[in-house]
Amino acid sequence: MAAPHPAAVVAGIGAWLPPDVVTNHDLSARMDTTDAWIRQRTGIRRRHIASPGTAASDLAVEAGRRALESAGLRTVDMVVLTTTTPDKPCPATAPAVAARLGMEGVPAFDVAAVCSGFLYALATSAGLIAAGTADHVLVIATEVYSAIIDPADRGTAVVFGDGAGAVVLRRGDPDEWGALGAFVLGSDGVHEDLIQVPAGGSRQRKSGLPPGPGDEFFRMRGKEVFRHAVQRMTTACRQATLAAGWEPDRVDRLAAHQANARILTAVSERLGLAGDQPLSNIEQVGNIGAASLPVLLAHSAERGELKPGHHLLLTAFGGGLTWGATTLVWPQL
Ligand code: UT7
Repeated sequence: MAAPHPAAVVAGIGAWLPPDVVTNHDLSARMDTTDAWIRQRTGIRRRHIASPGTAASDLAVEAGRRALESAGLRTVDMVVLTTTTPDKPCPATAPAVAARLGMEGVPAFDVAAVCSGFLYALATSAGLIAAGTADHVLVIATEVYSAIIDPADRGTAVVFGDGAGAVVLRRGDPDEWGALGAFVLGSDGVHEDLIQVPAGGSRQRKSGLPPGPGDEFFRMRGKEVFRHAVQRMTTACRQATLAAGWEPDRVDRLAAHQANARILTAVSERLGLAGDQPLSNIEQVGNIGAASLPVLLAHSAERGELKPGHHLLLTAFGGGLTWGATTLVWPQL
């Protein structure tokens, strides 16, 4: 029988949030919303916001450095970064981050899948490890949503925040703790308009027309996205647990993209998970896009809610539409 592929094993983790905090009360002083509405409809109380001049790469460097320290490494063979808010449309953000982490010459590139970006970046990195292209990969998810949020749009301004998270993956054995399981990934571009930044890309530029008012901002049709998010993450989770050979009651913790507290409840109820299983930090950080999952993992491990040996189900959903899920047993880091 052929030997199984080497697995990608989580060997280090780090997170970084910009220090400035915006509370629901701060928002209600500047737009037509209330702390009560935001808490009841989203579960969010506060979010961290990057100060002017702070870009996605600045947060990425901080998170990446912490993940490298956690893995006891100074360098890796590959840097894979994911973001919805790159420093510039061109080039990718990853090479500059790699260089600032002292890794000039190391291959570095970006993966784009909006809020599912971390899972897509993990899957890409696991493939590079399985193929023997890299032994150690630094995977960074970083977001400065405050750069693309319309400050007058209460449907998004109350939801999104900034931050970065990172993991180091190493080549390892599929049976060891920390080994990423099979990836379930999907997309449905029929609904690309549910989450988008209409202007700034080649479509708008080649049209010869100037952008419409507010077209440079992030737009989300929240209610429709909500329904897709619940359905896609639930299905992807079922497929990932099946691929891992886990019964639903084998799952100790659900780590789902922190889009909305009501989405977390809906997904975990549909999966039949016990009430204490969904990990959550949405109250403190809001929705930080692709960075949501690694920041959640780092915070949950720090707080002792995620322990070595826990069977963990990871899932995300975002613009594209895109979604994904995978499994792992949380390692001793
Ligand atoms: O990260 C990628 C994936 N993203 C998601 O999965 C996000 C999914 N969507 C959501 O989390 C929710 O749809 C939102 C939090 C964005 C919005 O919550 P909702 O419960 O779906 O609200 P809604 O858009 O249906 O609006 C309900 C009402 C409306 O008023 P009327 O028409 O009923 O009078 C809105 O105008 O709430 C109003 N509203 C607000 N009121 C106070 C919308 N936003 C606000 C607000 N404060 N911030």
